[in-house]
Amino acid sequence: MTLAEFLNQLDELASSAQQQLEQAADLDALEAARIEFIGTKSGRLKATQKFLGEIEKTDKPAAGKRFNEVKTQIQAAYERQQQQMANNVGTGAGGEQFDPTIPGPRPRLGHLHPITQTIEELKNIMGRLGFSLAEGPEIEDEWHNFEALNIPLSHPARDPLDNFYLHVGETTHHQTLLMRSQTSTVQIRVMENTKPPVRIISLGRVYRPDTPDATHLPMFHQIEGLLIDRQVTMADLKSVLRLFASSYLGTDVHVRFRPSFFPFTEPSVEVDMRWNDKWIEMGGAGMVDPAVLQAVGYDPDEVTGFAFGLGIERLCARRHGIEDIREIYKNDVRFLHQF
Ligand code: DAH
Repeated sequence: MTLAEFLNQLDELASSAQQQLEQAADLDALEAARIEFIGTKSGRLKATQKFLGEIEKTDKPAAGKRFNEVKTQIQAAYERQQQQMANNVGTGAGGEQFDPTIPGPRPRLGHLHPITQTIEELKNIMGRLGFSLAEGPEIEDEWHNFEALNIPLSHPARDPLDNFYLHVGETTHHQTLLMRSQTSTVQIRVMENTKPPVRIISLGRVYRPDTPDATHLPMFHQIEGLLIDRQVTMADLKSVLRLFASSYLGTDVHVRFRPSFFPFTEPSVEVDMRWNDKWIEMGGAGMVDPAVLQAVGYDPDEVTGFAFGLGIERLCARRHGIEDIREIYKNDVRFLHQF
């Protein structure tokens, strides 16, 4: 190797070492650059040093001098960079000083959605009253959503404009599927598979093509209750709903039953609760209609029962003073943080 080639190689080495050391973003990168250039075993400077032996004798002093200069230069660049990184500890991104012993900002923890919290609480309350949990599918057939609940084909509740029917291939009306419009479907599913007595609740989503407003949503949640036994009366229904309401909303809540009609209960009532000097409708209830008991193979002369279905968003709204239930699903963290 000629002197010129040797000096060239040294220059190239010096400038790339300078650049990499200066650009090292952290201690690891700095250490990697140190090893690459001035590592004592296989650093690039070490490798270049070997060519010193090939230099003409007369050129050796000049080559050696330059080699030592470059070595010192890279070593100094490394130490400068190391010093600078040490100084930066305790300095913010903008260069300002801060006290590294001050605890960092607390991470913001998420929490359960208010409706999930409500569902958990309602399950607990009803669980303490001896009701166990049952579940049913959100995609239902017409038997469980209507027929078995004593809602015949001619009934207006089956209007296509009031339900989300799912048209899957060619089907007869018995096989047509729909997004369930009520959790009363689960009453049928449970009774079809269990012998009385029955004491269940079911909580879940229901779907109706309603225009959203302060008290309506096209998807909302219901809590359904069903109790079947010998000699169950309307007084039992009223006591359970009173207990339920006062456990969730406080003992000062007023509960009102209004005579009403549902095809699957007889007699039927609408359940209202008082809020801000107004009665708001929470759902329906009643004594299970004998036709429903027959549809699932129970003997109406042997057993009776009550059922109820209440809107979970409305219960949650009443409890927390939410004036518009659409807020619940806007996913605005400023709203959700309050629960
Ligand atoms: N399923 C009814 C609805 O969605 C509410 C209801 C009324 C449920 C009476 C019941 C009941 O279990 O007995 O409007």
